[in-house]
Amino acid sequence: MSRVKGFISFEGIEGSGKSTQVKLIAGYLRSKGHNVIETVEPGGTKIGGKIRGLLLEPENHMDPLTELLLYYASRAQHVREVIYPAILKSTVVITDRFTDSTIAYQGYARGLDISLIHALDEIVVPDLRPSLTFLLDLDVEDGLRRNRQAQKEDRFELETIEFHGRVRSGFLQIAKDEPERVKVIDASKSPEEVSAEIIKVLEASWH
Ligand code: TMP
Repeated sequence: MSRVKGFISFEGIEGSGKSTQVKLIAGYLRSKGHNVIETVEPGGTKIGGKIRGLLLEPENHMDPLTELLLYYASRAQHVREVIYPAILKSTVVITDRFTDSTIAYQGYARGLDISLIHALDEIVVPDLRPSLTFLLDLDVEDGLRRNRQAQKEDRFELETIEFHGRVRSGFLQIAKDEPERVKVIDASKSPEEVSAEIIKVLEASWH
């Protein structure tokens, strides 16, 4: 699995501020003269948007394997329609979530076999891995509180605090396993402070 320069992902629990930071960092890179696209998983394409609806609507009770395959269906379309073509044109791609979310949510939190997720990943996204991943780390209760204030209530926000605790520790485990790629950022600070920290790390590690 090769890491692709110009492919950056943001990861984190609910309410960690990923979408705000994706916008700020994309703006920063554009100001430095890069062509940048911002995208999101699940979603990023018209079909992905429909799959996102299926995955997040609270009334959809779903088998964990169905859930996993829907995330990969969305990802298959996303990489072929958006990410590969952008990378071929040397456009920087910044995605709000990618494979690490599947490992953390469906693997560590839902309990699916992580080797199954890796096997699926090899089939769906061969040779595509971010060169840099920002893990926005935050206390689970703080994150859920932020989302409730924003009136965000999808199928995952309704999961237990223990589920979200497993997601957080799953992400931290991924960062421990791959410290060169995955940079842990304290997301409890203001958006401006978080963004300044990300830019510092980006400048130091994105060659
Ligand atoms: P978002 O609300 O951050 O856009 O993400 C949508 C939800 O989907 C979020 O609760 C995390 C979850 N998710 C997974 O469970 N597995 C995945 O592979 C991805 C990309 C997201």
